[in-house]
Amino acid sequence: MPRSLCQITDFTKDEVLQIFDLCKKMKSGEIAPKPLAGKSAACIFAKESLRTRISFEVGISELGGSPIYVTGGEIKLGERETVSDAAQVLSRYVGLIMIRTFKQSDVEDLAKYASVPIVNGLTDLVHPCQIMGDYYTMLEHLPKKDKYTVAYVGDGNNITNSWLNLASLIPLDFRIGTAEDCRPDASILEKAKANSDSNILVTADPKEAAKGADVIYTDVWASMGQKHLKEEKESKLKKYQLNSSLLEVADSNAIVLHCLPAERGKEITDEVMDGPQSRVFDQAENRLHIQKAIMAFLLQ
Ligand code: CP
Ligand code: NVA
Repeated sequence: MPRSLCQITDFTKDEVLQIFDLCKKMKSGEIAPKPLAGKSAACIFAKESLRTRISFEVGISELGGSPIYVTGGEIKLGERETVSDAAQVLSRYVGLIMIRTFKQSDVEDLAKYASVPIVNGLTDLVHPCQIMGDYYTMLEHLPKKDKYTVAYVGDGNNITNSWLNLASLIPLDFRIGTAEDCRPDASILEKAKANSDSNILVTADPKEAAKGADVIYTDVWASMGQKHLKEEKESKLKKYQLNSSLLEVADSNAIVLHCLPAERGKEITDEVMDGPQSRVFDQAENRLHIQKAIMAFLLQ
């Protein structure tokens, strides 16, 4: 079975560090591997996207390959045919499959039955490429430290779960400020707590989460597939808004991250998003670089 990225914990800590190193070399132009030369790669999207679609298509081209965009409604994974059949057929045509969908189990089944690497481009459970790119952005924009303090305020979602996955491998002081019933996945949370090199805090107090943090991070209150819960989430999470008064509680050199797309004026204010501490567009750019490194690593 080839290596795949279904979630960050598919890698070891050493492998994650190797990918950061590879990313640095590829981003600077020191090396330019072409592991997809002469091949195609399928990009399956059952949900909408700007960053993931474009950064994967560009990245696949820069690795020498040709991207093929496929919509979820077209292939109807698991409906028109089994995930296993689709995985085996696609593996005969392409050198890699990237997928954005709802169920994590669909991504894991693809990885089980495909004979080419699978890369998770977001599920309801996790968004591994995002958080690997975000940590890489921290390495570029923050002074070197053994353990960074990351405060995540807002909905406990796929982004939060992926931070927890990272914390189960890389030492992190990770604090989550969220409402009682918007907490992240319980088993992923327990796994992260089991890493004695990381400290995990879940609190209902956004200021307790943000205090002295190196990074303050937020994401939309209602994720894709949950937009019908928008009003309910908004009323539960409005006190977790990333605004200037929350940012003041963080370290004075803290940076602001958001995976985007942002709902300005909801989970983040314009003032913070466009302010001097925001690195959200550098963060978006790094999706391209980290995904190229991830694909090159999986294809080596
Ligand atoms: N951050 C992110 O994955 O953006 P898209 O939903 O636009 O791909
Ligand atoms: N939590 C968000 C992330 C978007 C990149 C969602 O799933 O919609």
